[in-house]
Amino acid sequence: MSENISKEVYLKAKQDSTKFNSTNEVAVILAAGHGKRIKSQTSKMLHKIWEITTVERVYNACKLGIENINSVVVVGIKAFDVMDVIGKREANKFAFQEHQNGTGHAVQVALKEIENEFKDGIVYVLPGDMGLLDDESMKKFRSDFISSAKDMMVLTGIYEGDPMQNYYGRIIRTKNDNGDGNVLQIMEFKDILALPDDKPYEITYGNKKYSYTKSELLNIKEFNSGVYAFDYKKLVELINDISSDNAQGEIYITDLIALFNQKSYSVGAVSPQNQYVVMGFNDKSVLKEMHEIARKNVYNKLKNIVQIDDPDDFFIHDSVVNDLIEMDKKGLPLDIKIGRGTYVGEGVKLNYNVELGRASYVKGNVVFGKNIKIWRIVHLSTFPHQTLKIEDNVKILWGDIIKGNIIIGENSTIESSVNMTGSDEYPLRIGKNVLIKGTSYLFGSIVEDNVTIEHSVLIKKKVKAEKDKNGKIKPVRFFIPDAEGKELLSDISSQEE
Ligand code: UD1
Ligand code: MG
Repeated sequence: MSENISKEVYLKAKQDSTKFNSTNEVAVILAAGHGKRIKSQTSKMLHKIWEITTVERVYNACKLGIENINSVVVVGIKAFDVMDVIGKREANKFAFQEHQNGTGHAVQVALKEIENEFKDGIVYVLPGDMGLLDDESMKKFRSDFISSAKDMMVLTGIYEGDPMQNYYGRIIRTKNDNGDGNVLQIMEFKDILALPDDKPYEITYGNKKYSYTKSELLNIKEFNSGVYAFDYKKLVELINDISSDNAQGEIYITDLIALFNQKSYSVGAVSPQNQYVVMGFNDKSVLKEMHEIARKNVYNKLKNIVQIDDPDDFFIHDSVVNDLIEMDKKGLPLDIKIGRGTYVGEGVKLNYNVELGRASYVKGNVVFGKNIKIWRIVHLSTFPHQTLKIEDNVKILWGDIIKGNIIIGENSTIESSVNMTGSDEYPLRIGKNVLIKGTSYLFGSIVEDNVTIEHSVLIKKKVKAEKDKNGKIKPVRFFIPDAEGKELLSDISSQEE
């Protein structure tokens, strides 16, 4: 990275950092690495699971799982992108790791950043690519750590499968029959591979020596998830003692286990009930698997609250999922239906008795009233600063495309294949009890209550409601505006060359 770019990163990191609060817990999220095996220009932490980047998912798990927790996000490769994704948030700092000298080094950089504001308490360390970590698991890990009274704790997983495909660091424990001996060390896969084949590996713990063959180490199923909890003062005491004497020449945070043991500080390890939360991905296929798990989790959260026609084919953004769960707590049945292949994106506000037909797409500030029926393949969306408001009892039929700054008044019906847009300068206002017949196009217009628009093109028009001599509101029929640039058009005849 050039000197100038580095300067800019330091500057942005400073600008986007905010003051810590007085709580004595901090989460350090490691997001400076890239991840080569994912084979992408995009950094690993910026890959999305269920449309949210993994680094943001880890961040959210910490902030939601532990009330008022402070946080530090360590950035390096793609620093600007990672900082943009997280943004400027309360009690969060960015620390810039200019050179990626390893996970232990990343923690050193983070601790340096907070030393003036954080004096004692608990430090959690998390990798930014653990996209299925959730707030519940974080909460549980915290309470396990606190109740254990250990000085450090590591969250582990159990690997089922070919040991030669298991790239995780192995948890080495003292040998006993239950497999729950004391945690002696974490050894990286690459470092185990680098061991000689014929000589056992020995670890001294207390006054005893423990010995492991290379194959024993490779076959250890318990692995390091990369999530840890530390007593702050002990971490600060030992963080600078880590050496880079290993196969990758890096400063490994995992070496702290042996260092804690040497000082007779206590080390614990726990494994979560839902093993998927410790999944990390190195390649596209595992990322896909994680995506599928995320979808199943969303389905399981909602399946008894709303009707989802196809559990394998839908999308509902996490923020909408949370809104629905909150709505359900109020006790009234929601009667919301989500058709197969339907997409409900960020910002959408659903309401009671809203039905979204098959393959509909809704995204942005789309605010639904009650009792609304959306037929199939309808598109409803806004830009971030716009609002599309649909009032009670509206019907929107097949294949409509409705975008932008719009209000559709209650009891109105929009027939099939209608295209409606409203801009910032020219919003579209449809009154109450309006009927818009199929294939109409409306832009930036105002339609008064009770009007029927028959197959028309209306651009920046005000449509008045006026009664005929029988007292019925007059419809607008087949309105097509005069074409601009008419003089440029001519008919093509088949004789012409
Ligand atoms: C690490 C652990 C390994 C564990 C695995 C779990 C070490 C030495 N090994 O290995 O025991 O099983 O995670 O996924 O810690 N990072 C930085 N700065 C750096 C290096 C890494 O911020 O200088 C970040 C990465 O962006 C990533 C996280 O730290 O989010 C983990 O780094 P990664 O290189 O993926 O470590 P692993 O080799 O997977
Ligand atoms: Mg990794």
